[in-house]
Amino acid sequence: MLESGQLVQGPLVERFEHAVAALVGRNHGVAVSSGTAALQLALKVLQVAPGDEVLCPALSWPSPAHAVRMAGAKVRFVDVEEDEWNSTAEALRDARTSETKAAIVIDQFGNPARAAQIREALGALPIIEDAACALGSRFANGPCGSLGKISCLSFHPRKILTTGEGGMCLTDDDDIAEKLRMLRNHGQLGGQFVVAAGNFRMTEMAAALGLAQLKRLDEIVVRRRELAALYRELLEGEITMQRTPEGGESNYQTLGVLLPQGHDRNAVREKMAERGVETSVLSFAIHKLGSFTGSQASLPIAEHVAARGIALPLFPQMRNAEAEQVTATLRGLLRE
Ligand SMILES: Cc1ncc(COP(=O)(O)O)c(C=O)c1O
Repeated sequence: MLESGQLVQGPLVERFEHAVAALVGRNHGVAVSSGTAALQLALKVLQVAPGDEVLCPALSWPSPAHAVRMAGAKVRFVDVEEDEWNSTAEALRDARTSETKAAIVIDQFGNPARAAQIREALGALPIIEDAACALGSRFANGPCGSLGKISCLSFHPRKILTTGEGGMCLTDDDDIAEKLRMLRNHGQLGGQFVVAAGNFRMTEMAAALGLAQLKRLDEIVVRRRELAALYRELLEGEITMQRTPEGGESNYQTLGVLLPQGHDRNAVREKMAERGVETSVLSFAIHKLGSFTGSQASLPIAEHVAARGIALPLFPQMRNAEAEQVTATLRGLLRE
């Protein structure tokens, strides 16, 4: 690859695109420079613009909501369901107004949204699936990444498969795929600059990393599921974990737990760190962030999960004994 001199957007990127699209059963994969870029381009192709409104779950890393704002449109935040931590079909349908141009549906932490119900509830409204965390997860009726007009993946290092930075749009629509390819590459089509657009291309080095890991994806997901099942067994009855909808399967990209009321999250995290267990804040109630100052929305479940949630260590090389140590440390601290 280095000898070919083609370091950006070459044959390895194309191979990676085909491999990911085939895995998820979509006609096209369009590799880009990050998951956020994938969301930005998806919104652009769907012509989301000032005056429009886009539905977006309130519990997440802020990228989807920021992408809507960067398109000049308004974010209509939707609360999440209390056990699955994704927005339901009913909540999305009820939040819709006459200005709603599209809905972003997130498979949060790798947990599949209820795709069939959402599709039915939203009818012809274009859906952008934010499957940034969900490669290898499954809805009851198909792989995550297969919902809606465009699905967006991230390959950031915290994701199930990483290319360093990277992302991909997946779609079945030939016209959308062509527009996405044009928009990621300075607005070029057939040798002409047809739109003023930026550079969102993936490098060949990134694609090579992605292709190598793709071979191990099944193995990675199987081990993560084993560890998540062990965590569930060890924390049963004491600490809340995310529930997967019937028939669906999570890849457990992030293992979130909610600390019971009465325990200070920062204090618990600090004491865990002193005992050798690194944790992180699970997620954010995006409408409460500085970037959305002035938002009057009250979305109690997203706020609760954001305030009480921590992510526990989970990685494919983790041994069962290490998961046991993590849970013993956490249970011990909560009883002190
Ligand atoms: C749900 C969700 N969407 C989008 C992104 C953005 O992905 P990237 O970091 O590749 O831009 C993330 C990243 O954490 C995410 O969790």
